[in-house]
Amino acid sequence: MSEKPTFYITTPIYYPSDNLHIGHSYTSTAADTMARFKKQSGYDVYFLTGTDEHGQKIERKAEAAGVTPQEYVDHIVDGIKKLWKLMDIEYDDFIRTTDERHVKSVQKIFKKLHDQGDIYKSEYEGWYCTPCESFWTELQLKDGCCPDCGRPVEKTREESYFFRLSKYQDWLIDYIKTHPDFIQPSTRTAEMLNNFLIPGLQDLCVSRTSIKWGIPVDFDPKHTVYVWLDALTNYINALGYGSDDDSLFQKYWPADIHLVGKEIVRFHTIIWPIMLHALGLPLPKQVFGHGWLVINGGKMSKSKGNVVDPVKLCERYSSDAIRYFLMREVPFGSDGEFTNEALIKRINADLANDLGNLVSRSVAMIEKYFGGVVPAPAEYTELDRKIIDQAQSLWQSVEKSMNALQFSSALAEIWKLIGECNRYIDQTTPWILAKNEADRPRLGTVMYVLLECARIVGVLIAPTMPRTPERIFAQIGVTDEALKTWDSVKTFGGAKPGSVVHKGEPLFPRIDVAKELERLEAENQAAQAEAQKAAKDELPAPQDEEKTVFTQKDLIAFDDFEKMQLVVAKVLKCEKVPKADKLLMSTLKVGNTERIVVSGIAKFYTPEEMIGKKVVLLANLAPRKIRGIESHGMLLCAANADDSKLSLLTVDADMEDGCEIG
Ligand code: MSP
Repeated sequence: MSEKPTFYITTPIYYPSDNLHIGHSYTSTAADTMARFKKQSGYDVYFLTGTDEHGQKIERKAEAAGVTPQEYVDHIVDGIKKLWKLMDIEYDDFIRTTDERHVKSVQKIFKKLHDQGDIYKSEYEGWYCTPCESFWTELQLKDGCCPDCGRPVEKTREESYFFRLSKYQDWLIDYIKTHPDFIQPSTRTAEMLNNFLIPGLQDLCVSRTSIKWGIPVDFDPKHTVYVWLDALTNYINALGYGSDDDSLFQKYWPADIHLVGKEIVRFHTIIWPIMLHALGLPLPKQVFGHGWLVINGGKMSKSKGNVVDPVKLCERYSSDAIRYFLMREVPFGSDGEFTNEALIKRINADLANDLGNLVSRSVAMIEKYFGGVVPAPAEYTELDRKIIDQAQSLWQSVEKSMNALQFSSALAEIWKLIGECNRYIDQTTPWILAKNEADRPRLGTVMYVLLECARIVGVLIAPTMPRTPERIFAQIGVTDEALKTWDSVKTFGGAKPGSVVHKGEPLFPRIDVAKELERLEAENQAAQAEAQKAAKDELPAPQDEEKTVFTQKDLIAFDDFEKMQLVVAKVLKCEKVPKADKLLMSTLKVGNTERIVVSGIAKFYTPEEMIGKKVVLLANLAPRKIRGIESHGMLLCAANADDSKLSLLTVDADMEDGCEIG
């Protein structure tokens, strides 16, 4: 058995989808980067990922594709594994919820919870969101739809087993309050407490009789285990929990980090800890909820036709460049906008210029001035000392940031050194030193400092960019494995004088920004058109690709604002305006009055959808005739520049129509 401390990290298990997008790669890249960092810094790491293959969603997709659910998932899982290979996601185990080891364990866990009275049989009546595989009560619905994804829900009434979440509510509140590191970033702790736990937990419906694609409850097989209960246990099942060989479980549980996207923090910090506690098991040390990669402020989704394909990006720019971008661009935990422009600019500025130049210039100069043989340093000057100090203490700040999953800060620190090295070249002007034989020792020192910094950079970027370090080492002539380790960067001076550098291909070729953007844009549009055709089951797709440009108009006085009468209005009736594609005519109730308003929203709302909505009306706008109909006021909407996306303003709480807004 190894003496090293253990570190167990997991990604969520992915829904089998035939187009995992860059957002999915985000969780896996972060987990892989962390796993590699921990391995590098001396831990015995276990990194688990996998697929979440059961549930209504898959059942329906398979049916639509005319194959069995098992055939459907088998095919897709191969593709997911290929993507992880392409992106150098180096997991230790890949668990599938259709694996026998998982199925058996879920059945045992369900039975144990049932036998000890934590699961009981009753009847479920409520709403189910198939895309999220979530149960909702009437009160939780938003405009009759799923409060998480906004899609329609289905009324469900059936005999079900329930898990006594309510029994453990107080315990969990106390646990979360006394373990501030359990949910990270800490803002998510408040969200869980205030939105879910303090208002009170209801017992959770944990079986379905109407869904067949799942794990049967073995002592009552007409019931299928609820997918989240099934899925969450993957984290212990993969380690052999409850099986004949649970040595991995003994070694690695509790997990150090469950890395999850922010939308599934709820399942991981409420249902999962309660299950573990009920099973008498310790809780994971941390659930880290990262933000989303968004496009135009919204989540990427196939149905919106705005997914970014990681395979294409990796093939075009290399997986290391994509991994770097994902980890560098957005502070981990926050949402971040994905744009092609930002990606290309980062590749050019940070990788082709900063990193690429440091390596290529250093190697080229050593070739030119020293015939490719690394010189020994002479005396270090104050200027050298400064950069040496920065280089040899860099691991400390990198370690601190990495341990807090602040990948972007860690990389920013490394790039500070790279920037400093490039400035050092300009300050020391090796090309002038080279002209004078007496300056040769100084020139040798400068070359050595640069080369050693490049080596240190090579070691420190390895967790994020697993392929680039070897390319750097090959160019700067570092062959000794000991010089590629974490410990080797704690002292300056590892690089060996006398070793030979080799000029190579540029690490990251510069990209022509304008040409590349044009090309990507054309591809995006083609992909969008295709996706929109294919996605019938989800939300309508926004067309906008441009960033919204906000230009402020002239300032107005408060009195000017006061002139507008904004009120809450309720839509009583609504119909299409004949021969006008864009117009809807709504009859609104405003307090004790009614009025007609014509609005250009027919592309975004059907008349049926409008009925019952509480909208915001500019009531004192002078009446206008539109297509022969007199319109009394204007419904306020948010719309993007090319009017491809529009949303009516509504009020947050259930306000009476007629209420004044201001
Ligand atoms: N199957 C569940 C997880 C069960 S874990 C017991 C699930 N799967 S998923 O495929 O929908 O999501 C997997 C991961 O991808 C999640 O962490 C999710 O947040 C992440 N992402 C999917 N789209 C994303 C973005 N656009 N941006 C960042 N990550 C997002 O949820």
